[in-house]
Amino acid sequence: MGALNDRTALSLPTGIIADAFARAIAAAADLAGATSPNPPVGCAILDAAGNILAVEAHRKAGGLHAEARAIAACQAAGTTGRIHTVVVTLEPCNHHGRTPPCSEAILSTPTREVWIAETDPNPRVEGGGASRLAAAGLSVRHLSELDHPDAGQLSAEAERLIAPFATWVTTGRPFVTIKQALDDTGSMIPPPGRKTFTSEASLTLAHSMRRRADAILTGSGTILADRPEFTVRHLPDHPGKSRILAILDRRGRVPADDLAEATRRGLRPILFGDIGDALTRLGNEGVHEVLVEAGPELMGAILAANLWDELVIIRRTRSDLPDQITVSRNRTKKG
Ligand SMILES: NC(=O)c1ccc[n+]([C@@H]2O[C@H](COP(=O)([O-])OP(=O)(O)OC[C@H]3O[C@@H](n4cnc5c(N)ncnc54)[C@H](OP(=O)(O)O)[C@@H]3O)[C@@H](O)[C@H]2O)c1
Repeated sequence: MGALNDRTALSLPTGIIADAFARAIAAAADLAGATSPNPPVGCAILDAAGNILAVEAHRKAGGLHAEARAIAACQAAGTTGRIHTVVVTLEPCNHHGRTPPCSEAILSTPTREVWIAETDPNPRVEGGGASRLAAAGLSVRHLSELDHPDAGQLSAEAERLIAPFATWVTTGRPFVTIKQALDDTGSMIPPPGRKTFTSEASLTLAHSMRRRADAILTGSGTILADRPEFTVRHLPDHPGKSRILAILDRRGRVPADDLAEATRRGLRPILFGDIGDALTRLGNEGVHEVLVEAGPELMGAILAANLWDELVIIRRTRSDLPDQITVSRNRTKKG
């Protein structure tokens, strides 16, 4: 009981922790799609009065992890001695990979408390950083125990952030997001001479979904009908990012010129005859999240085979109203 009281006395107010989680999640979300084969991770560091000392995110595989970047930012600002609380979207690592363990980096500072949103989903990692930090006497808390009205939403955002990596590292296949645009009649087919019918805001949403994906999956029907560019245009892309363009084309209808054009746009086109083969190959290529941008035939086949993880429906109702966006997660997918 005494220990619990001591720990509670150590903790910053829940509103400050919720705000720190929101900042760490936002920093990581901005880098989603840039970090594979590592997951996007964000970290906020606070002093004993609850002031933010640093907010950083992991930027690129091989580069510093979010916690190490945030600690380095404190060192650069001369505030390391004030570090009291570390708030991180993913359990700190406890192993020597391409960079030293973040648990040790945290223990080299005066940190008293660490808040973690998601535990490490990697089954190959035994004894993550949380137990190492707790064994060293730090207070280790989880977002799930945060008593704040925003805690549920923050947990959902942190879980979505790590979901593509968690799916890939546990199944070897990517997290499959389907984007489906529907007009006011429920049709997916654009009017003649047009490639889209949704609002500018929905196009920006669609391009932000492309931005965080490592691959796009489409069908020959969509390529032949629309010749989509499949590039990120309504917002800046991650510098140097290259995506696989997986095309289901059993009959070999996609002309070689279209593949050459896709390559010129920075995509890596690969043809497939089977959806399962495509997902296995994408997983082997290190793809964490694949965005399905296909017509009704291929999209229907992926839904029917229960191979999807998230379905984002963009529904145009009236031209003078915002499009309706619905996001659903598949809780019945196997493996
Ligand atoms: N509103 C939207 O969100 C949206 C998005 C994309 C496209 N579209 C529209 O969709 C229309 C095209 O529709 P679509 O249904 O023809 O396009 P699609 O689904 O992109 O492509 C159909 C092709 O995919 C392949 N395929 C489908 N199911 C498969 C399976 N189970 N296994 C292996 N390959 C499979 C087949 O190629 P083979 O026959 O060669 O084997 C099939 O002809 C266009 O008008 C486009 O504008 C709408």
